[in-house]
Amino acid sequence: MAQIRLERLAKRYGSVEVIPGIDLTIGDGEFLVLVGPSGCGKSTLLRMIAGLEEISSGTLRIGNTIVNELPPADRNVAMVFQDYALYPHMTVGDNMGFGLKMRNAPSGEINERVTKAAEILKIAPYLERLPGQLSGGQRQRVAMGRAIVREPEAFLFDEPLSNLDAALRVEMRLEMAKLHRRMRATTVYVTHDQVEAMTLADRIVIMNAGRVEQVGRPLDLYHRPHTLFVARFIGSPAMNTFNLRTEERSGVLGVRLQESSVIEIPAPTVQPCGDGAPITVGIRPEDLSVCEPRDAWLTGETVLVERLGGQTYAYLDVGAERLVTVELPRTSEAMPGMVLSIAGRTDAIHIFAENGNRLNRDARLPG
Ligand SMILES: Nc1ncnc2c1ncn2[C@@H]1O[C@H](COP(=O)(O)OP(=O)(O)OP(=O)(O)O)[C@@H](O)[C@H]1O
Ligand SMILES: [Mg+2]
Repeated sequence: MAQIRLERLAKRYGSVEVIPGIDLTIGDGEFLVLVGPSGCGKSTLLRMIAGLEEISSGTLRIGNTIVNELPPADRNVAMVFQDYALYPHMTVGDNMGFGLKMRNAPSGEINERVTKAAEILKIAPYLERLPGQLSGGQRQRVAMGRAIVREPEAFLFDEPLSNLDAALRVEMRLEMAKLHRRMRATTVYVTHDQVEAMTLADRIVIMNAGRVEQVGRPLDLYHRPHTLFVARFIGSPAMNTFNLRTEERSGVLGVRLQESSVIEIPAPTVQPCGDGAPITVGIRPEDLSVCEPRDAWLTGETVLVERLGGQTYAYLDVGAERLVTVELPRTSEAMPGMVLSIAGRTDAIHIFAENGNRLNRDARLPG
């Protein structure tokens, strides 16, 4: 396995700059997950690493080799696509062994590697079938098997599970995690799924318009987003955010989510931004709870209660045409129409400057 290093790696289509220049090192054996809004350049970046897309400028190293000019087959990385891209007229076994056959590997070795990969992925009984005779999940395993038999330096996955139904996704996610623990292969994995990103990643890269917004361990991004963009992107349901102005007094920062109440945050925990400065305050739904009316940060009428089994969320109309999401205890009997008073812990409040940068100084610790 190998380290992958991107230095000022850029992609332009004519005059359109899709990726202005990314610096990133993916460690040997690391599982790196790329997330970001549609069109931010995730697939483009993956395809540049695979060699399927020309690099406009910058340097790409796999191991110690600069691979900018190497064709895909010589880069020794394997890519798995969302639509599996299997050859429909070839059996599962032939699909898996095709890459090795193209490289003139002896047929005994091909058989051995295909058999081994099929056992790992539990598709051994299907080796003689055609892809059309398999379920979506089985096809996905074949696509992964085809990548594994090549014993590449690195794996690249572009939303590999997004065509599967919810139950199969969970099952395949666990399989991915087990496979990674077993093989410790350097992996770059693109997904739209928050749970996949949080559970599979050693580190997550959040991309925004072709740039890296933040790189970090999943829980660090969750508890300490460096920017408002990251704060809003990570977490489901999303963090509640409020645009307001600071009220600085001696030793405290006053934050007024509703006219009637002021939250006092110890000033030294926040970078000074001046009285009356525009800021955005963020609070996650699970950091809010129902309280006595006199302690309320916010009061609002319940518009909707979502009971998911494990969690219950209430959406409160707090005026000014906005809804606030609160996680309630599972046993809560809240109903639409009820007026709830809510508050939280001041150290769970995230504060961002007008330019989106985090202003809190302290690390918010989980629990
Ligand atoms: N051949 C091309 N010519 C011009 N622009 C392109 C081309 N291919 C992609 N783009 C643009 O590059 C940007 C990044 O596309 P990319 O497919 O990498 O996004 P993505 O992050 O993978 O999105 P999604 O989450 O929807 O898959 C998009 O704005 C897209 O329109
Ligand atoms: Mg894509």
